[in-house]
Amino acid sequence: TNQGIPKEKGIDHTVDLIREGYPFIQNRIKKYQSPIVISRVLGKKVIFLSGVEAAKVFYNDKYFKRHGVAPMRVQKTLFGKHAIQGLDGKEHLKRKNLFMSLLTPEYEKQLIELCVKNLDRQANEWEKKKSIKLFDESKKVLFLSVCEWTAVPYPKEKEKEFLEDFGYMIYSFGRIGSFYRKGKRSRKCVEHWVEQLIEDVRLGMFEVDKKTPLYQMSMCKDINGELVDIKIAARELINLLRPIIAIATYITFVAVALYENPECKEKLKKKDPIYLEMFCQEVRRYYPFSPFIGAKVIKSFRWNHCVFKKNTLVMLDLYGMMHDEKLWKQPYTFNPERFKKREKCLYDLMPQGGGNIHTGHRCAGDIITLKVMMAFTDYLVNNIEYTVPNQDLSIPLNQIPTLPRSGFIMKNVKMKK
Ligand code: HEM
Repeated sequence: TNQGIPKEKGIDHTVDLIREGYPFIQNRIKKYQSPIVISRVLGKKVIFLSGVEAAKVFYNDKYFKRHGVAPMRVQKTLFGKHAIQGLDGKEHLKRKNLFMSLLTPEYEKQLIELCVKNLDRQANEWEKKKSIKLFDESKKVLFLSVCEWTAVPYPKEKEKEFLEDFGYMIYSFGRIGSFYRKGKRSRKCVEHWVEQLIEDVRLGMFEVDKKTPLYQMSMCKDINGELVDIKIAARELINLLRPIIAIATYITFVAVALYENPECKEKLKKKDPIYLEMFCQEVRRYYPFSPFIGAKVIKSFRWNHCVFKKNTLVMLDLYGMMHDEKLWKQPYTFNPERFKKREKCLYDLMPQGGGNIHTGHRCAGDIITLKVMMAFTDYLVNNIEYTVPNQDLSIPLNQIPTLPRSGFIMKNVKMKK
């Protein structure tokens, strides 16, 4: 079968994946000039997919499921076992509704206000320092804001430790050795802390407003209306906390984009919300964050002359598609204006996954991430001044997830009057 579909030669290509990183799938799609390429990774047959039509098939839940897809190392660090990312069908929809009910414009506004308040507070501290690392500082602002937003209390003396733990959870799944082990340990520590908190909420020992994400997640129910296990509720609450802190990565990319494209920074001073949004969308398209996403075939089907056999692992290329010249003119040029007349499509700009946000697996935080980025961008441009010393701003593509090497150092930070 699949005689007309390009198959990569060789026993296994995991080493190439580690060596090439983000462009791994794109390199193969380009080499074979085909939106479907068959290969082997981690000892398994994998079908790589790219292109808008392929993405539509990938996000059709008649064909694909998520259960049992994420590798153990991702579950033990980034996602947490048996959480929303691995659910399908009705159970997934029920859980997704809970997330979406906490990510409405009203909740969004509260989070943004907290971010700006904490930015003001921290910027006061930055003024007193010779230099700061924006990645670390924005993580802290987001951590303080998200704890307040969800109503999650934490002992002040634990702030540094928890921040470090979240960092490891986000950044360790693509690593080996002690970095990965720290990631696993960090997830255990944070899960333990959040499980106790949820138990206290359920027992009424910690009284909290019913509207808060802490309460809502603590009372997370399954499709039969039963409270889910405390461990699951904890992982889902962490699925709100962790990715909001991870927006620090995009904020660091925002700062790099402002530095490397001073003409954009000038335009942002005019405070036009439409341009601000286009700028942040371009940051999400241009810079590497989510590489690709996996799913398994539910039952055999044929698409585009290829037979997808039951249980085959399929990977959709997110990074490659956002740098595909068939979809984006001069994809390696940073150009916010490209969004001016572009029609919205759920299957081409997929920095956080594609398809329908309410019914599919597209990132629940897609919109809130954009809004938080917009608030930080505006703050960096219009509320503070700073200088950018010489530093290594290169972004290694063979490290997943990646970051500008220096973490973006800023000097002489001053709040604008
Ligand atoms: C899922 C990326 C921020 C909550 C995902 C997926 C990706 C992603 C690639 C998987 C999409 C798929 O399976 O098709 C990102 C990136 C972020 C980010 C790069 C930037 C920091 C957020 C935020 C939240 C969030 C801020 C919550 C406030 C979720 C949830 C899912 C998810 C709950 C699971 C959705 C589902 O399976 O239905 N994210 N995300 N993410 N993300 Fe995000």
